[in-house]
Amino acid sequence: MKKTKIQKNSVSSEVRLLQAAVQDTEDSVLITDANLDPPGPKIVFVNPGFSKMTGYTSEEVIGKSPRLMQGPNTDRKVLDRLKHCLENGEPFFGEAINYRKDGTEYFLEWHISPVRDAAGKITHFVSVQRDISERKRAEELHVQFQKQKARTAAIVETQEEERRRIAKELHDALGQMLVAAKFNIDILEDQLEATGETTRKLTSDVKNLLNQIMLEVRRISYNLMPSILEDFGLPPALNQLCEQLSKNENLRIQFVYSGMEKRLPGVVEIGLYRIAQEALNNIVKHAKAHEAIIQLIKDKKTVTLIVEDDGLGFNSDEAERGQHRRGMGLINMRERAESISALFSLNSQPGRGTEVIVQLKDNGR
Ligand SMILES: Nc1ncnc2c1ncn2[C@@H]1O[C@H](COP(=O)(O)OP(=O)(O)OP(=O)(O)O)[C@@H](O)[C@H]1O
Ligand SMILES: [Mg+2]
Repeated sequence: MKKTKIQKNSVSSEVRLLQAAVQDTEDSVLITDANLDPPGPKIVFVNPGFSKMTGYTSEEVIGKSPRLMQGPNTDRKVLDRLKHCLENGEPFFGEAINYRKDGTEYFLEWHISPVRDAAGKITHFVSVQRDISERKRAEELHVQFQKQKARTAAIVETQEEERRRIAKELHDALGQMLVAAKFNIDILEDQLEATGETTRKLTSDVKNLLNQIMLEVRRISYNLMPSILEDFGLPPALNQLCEQLSKNENLRIQFVYSGMEKRLPGVVEIGLYRIAQEALNNIVKHAKAHEAIIQLIKDKKTVTLIVEDDGLGFNSDEAERGQHRRGMGLINMRERAESISALFSLNSQPGRGTEVIVQLKDNGR
């Protein structure tokens, strides 16, 4: 008796109208009766969109429960909320994992509305479903990317902190000790005036050695963390880097900048400095260039760093994809840029020089 009643409901004029309306929509549409007693509502209609999404034909599902599509990874909490909504005659909206006929999972966005007859009694539920697996995958990838970016930034920050500490220790502790040693040797030298040639020569050698050590300690300390960068900011630090490198090489390095009246955030300054430093080191090591130019340009919205050379160039796609990869410089530059949320691009071709571009939106803030 009850069954006949459901059948009668299932072909009510409202439902027939609905079935006609959703026949050709892209979304998957499923209509059930409204029998909430166990085992729950039964499917009375599915459109072709449903078959396309799940792999079930309408003959295979009519008269069955929509639970057919649920499985171990379908969120119980969502199903409980769904049950609650249906029992209270409320519309339901949610997302969950469902299973196709072949057992594969898909992520589903799901809207269920009750259909009422003229007397206001619920006769059916209409469920519209959309496969959002692609969107979920993209969201998941985005989350992973953000996490990776945060991890890289944290590593870079720790590394810089460590460099700062070592540079300071080298400069303060070791540097001071060397100064003291040299001072003592100066005194010793005075006292040895009257002794033989060999002793005087030895003392003088030690003194020269100490002088060299002091210069070396200063150089290492500076490379670890250039004090000029911390004290005066990016343009003076880049300027000095260019001057140092053009001194030793047969290479003219120009540095131009604009809009840099205010300092950038500390991590951005260090990040851009390290990228320029690596790009310049690569020019010195590999490019055989006559000229290099560094540009640092800040406008209202962006900060751009460009390092170009007119040297040998190389196949940058291959180098970045890791074929014949020899060093860590290119990878480090890209990771540095990512850690300060900057866009990084490397353009190079054999015989056409190399260009490294780093661009920060919102001035790195
Ligand atoms: N400006 C450039 N001109 C010509 N070739 C370059 C330039 N920059 C990079 N390359 C090429 O790309 C390769 C990879 O550069 P990368 O900085 O990653 O490594 P590396 O400089 O060889 O070693 P590392 O930086 O680890 O000391 C270099 O070996 C070189 O062949
Ligand atoms: Mg390198």
